[in-house]
Amino acid sequence: MKKALLTLTALALLATTAQARSWEDIKKSGTIKIATEGAFPPFNLLKGKELTGFEVDLANQLAKQLGLKVQWVTQPFDSLLIGLQQDRYDFVIASHGITPERAKAVDFSNPHYCTGGAIVSRVGGPKTAADLKGKTVAVQVGTTYLDNVRKVPGVKDVKTFPKDTDAQAALMAGRVDAWVGDKFTGLDLVKAQKGKLTAGSLLFNERIGMAVKKGNAGLLKELNAALTKSLSDGTYAKLSGQYFGTDVRCR
Ligand code: ARG
Repeated sequence: MKKALLTLTALALLATTAQARSWEDIKKSGTIKIATEGAFPPFNLLKGKELTGFEVDLANQLAKQLGLKVQWVTQPFDSLLIGLQQDRYDFVIASHGITPERAKAVDFSNPHYCTGGAIVSRVGGPKTAADLKGKTVAVQVGTTYLDNVRKVPGVKDVKTFPKDTDAQAALMAGRVDAWVGDKFTGLDLVKAQKGKLTAGSLLFNERIGMAVKKGNAGLLKELNAALTKSLSDGTYAKLSGQYFGTDVRCR
């Protein structure tokens, strides 16, 4: 927690210095640089060399609507917002929950989906927050899952992993009692493991947004407008249906 707080404070400081590309600069160049992790299915993942997932498809559609080509950058989840402050790309779409802490360092778009953090365990394992008492839990580092599991009283140990898929593997291997992660990811995981895992309860809800560098209001306005259009013209609904069989927009 301390380390995470420090990092965000450092980000908030950095936010006031370097210069992000303005909407006009991006438009002139014809290409927008977007960063994601590429290891967080079904939202952003690498299938072989191809970057795909709900957020990747959505961002590609938004860029198309804005008349821009896309250059994708992938890097570890916990360095994505730092790279944004260093002007390494124009925005980040990587399932970041909109939290007051993060909002000090970056500016968030309107939410592009709503979800929650859920518990998954092996059959017979902990299913509720109360069940986590005395248990070990795996989460991805730098996430809202980590922050929220830490708030659950009595948890014995929280083990952090660089990638969410590593945290899932720890659960499968029996090195932890439970995994906490995205509820949609959890459903896919339970399905894929055919009877070995059970989905437990939801620990918290969150709104997920795209992040631009603090103060990049021009770009934020364009992104929000493109998202609003996608939400209203059926594009978003179609894409969401393909990935989730339901519409995951915030209501
Ligand atoms: N929604 C969670 C958060 O806001 C997890 C995001 C993880 N994203 C990723 N690309 N691994 O922290």
